[in-house]
Amino acid sequence: MSADRPGRSSSPKASRFLGRGPSGGQPLGVAHRGASKESPENTLAAFRLALHLGAEAVECDARRTRDGHVVVIHDHALDRTTDGRGPVESHTLSEIRGLDAGRWFGPQFAGERIPLLAEVLEAVRGKALVKLEIKNDPVPYEGIEQQIVDIVRGLGMEDEVFVMSFDHECVRTVHALAPRLATGILYSGRLVDAPHAAQAAGADALCVHRGYVSPRDVARAHAAGLGFFVWTVDDEETLRHCVAWEVDGVTSNDTRLMLRVLGAARPGA
Ligand code: G3P
Ligand code: CA
Repeated sequence: MSADRPGRSSSPKASRFLGRGPSGGQPLGVAHRGASKESPENTLAAFRLALHLGAEAVECDARRTRDGHVVVIHDHALDRTTDGRGPVESHTLSEIRGLDAGRWFGPQFAGERIPLLAEVLEAVRGKALVKLEIKNDPVPYEGIEQQIVDIVRGLGMEDEVFVMSFDHECVRTVHALAPRLATGILYSGRLVDAPHAAQAAGADALCVHRGYVSPRDVARAHAAGLGFFVWTVDDEETLRHCVAWEVDGVTSNDTRLMLRVLGAARPGA
């Protein structure tokens, strides 16, 4: 963590995610839903490719099946990224596991499945950090915060996982259940007092849509002791702005471009 930024959190729990930027190192490069430009999002294939390319962190989305299993998929409905139909929570794990989550992206990915959250975490453990988004819409998954805390703790990954959500009550609950876990509030817009919103949720960082980022916002977050992450950036100019503005991390679908701009590409990958 950068030592020369007044007000930055010195909490060891968040130190692997925060305090990057030029004075403390490059921003953390986060592969959004895995290497999702080149492989089917939120599948083990996408996370493995992100690791192969050299990503320091991956992002994934958590939802819950009808019989209570936490799985990794972005949409509320199965339709876009699988050969199934309807909401995730209307299907059992067994039904979900029978779906193909890769063929929609390309025939070479046929047979990819919707993974359990635990499978994704195990695939990444010790190799990269995980930014885990709890999707808690359009209806809340009652009690999913405790389940996620239990899964992360069960795998001994409290120092490797950052939990975030657009549902800030959900973030607050995670923080109350597991104060050691790093957390962030997601939003798309310009909040009048974003640091206050983060503090109200007990969060360590702001996770902001790329359209609402300015150097002033970044400096304000840092002055309040908060980290600043930007999503989802797929163009070189904005990636370079993120570096110049000393954000703590940036999330991209284009893992190769992101790692090249951050100077973190793995040679030969
Ligand atoms: O990393 C945050 C970002 O993933 C939030 O938006 O819709 O891509 O989950 P979404
Ligand atoms: Ca997400």
